[in-house]
Amino acid sequence: MSEMAASLPEGQQRFLDRQAERIRRLRETLVEIARVPETVTLEIGCGHGHYLTAYALQHPDKRCIGVDLVTKRILKACQKRDKRNLQNLHFLKAEIREFLKAWPEHLTLERVFILFPDPWPKKRHAKNRILQSSLLDALGQIAKEGTQLHFRTDHPENFAWGMEVIASHADWHIRDDIEWPFENPSFFQDLLGDYQSLTACFSPLETGESESQ
Ligand SMILES: C[S@@+](CC[C@H](N)C(=O)[O-])C[C@H]1O[C@@H](n2cnc3c(N)ncnc32)[C@H](O)[C@@H]1O
Repeated sequence: MSEMAASLPEGQQRFLDRQAERIRRLRETLVEIARVPETVTLEIGCGHGHYLTAYALQHPDKRCIGVDLVTKRILKACQKRDKRNLQNLHFLKAEIREFLKAWPEHLTLERVFILFPDPWPKKRHAKNRILQSSLLDALGQIAKEGTQLHFRTDHPENFAWGMEVIASHADWHIRDDIEWPFENPSFFQDLLGDYQSLTACFSPLETGESESQ
């Protein structure tokens, strides 16, 4: 055991061990879901699964995975999926950063939705917003050239935040010319009023190309 590991307080070590075990199990589940190389459509914070269920129904050739922190929401989402017998749809209870650490190498992110994320309206809570530069880094690790990210929120400040986070990231680029790929109200879209949407593309080459010109 390294000196560093030996010096960790017991509670912290227990937390890290549990986290490692959750990530190991998530990876096992992902490998069971798709044993061979595939591209994946991901919804982060899928809630009750309204949107992704409709998406998977319309796109039977797409492997769709929804992730949410809340067990009850995932159970409801799974009921929707089972009722329609959708073999291409999976819902997993996980924290998104742990989930991304579990992502096996043979899967590639094709498309990711973040719909009506918790707004964390106070400035001092902005660090809790789901869309952060570090999340874009982690998504970039599993993306390919052209992977699309779709972000929608009813909260103007959160929208401005999303625009800024993406605009200041080197590898993700906001694209006004790409249409929203599929319309079907999510649970929160139905509850809330106006909203704004943006799409960004993963293109690490774009930065390199423009720098070399
Ligand atoms: C306001 S709800 C929106 C749900 C759904 N996208 C919709 O539009 O109906 C935000 C969801 O994100 C989930 N969530 C928040 N932080 C998360 C995280 N770090 N990892 C996974 N899910 C998260 C919450 O549990 C919640 O279900």
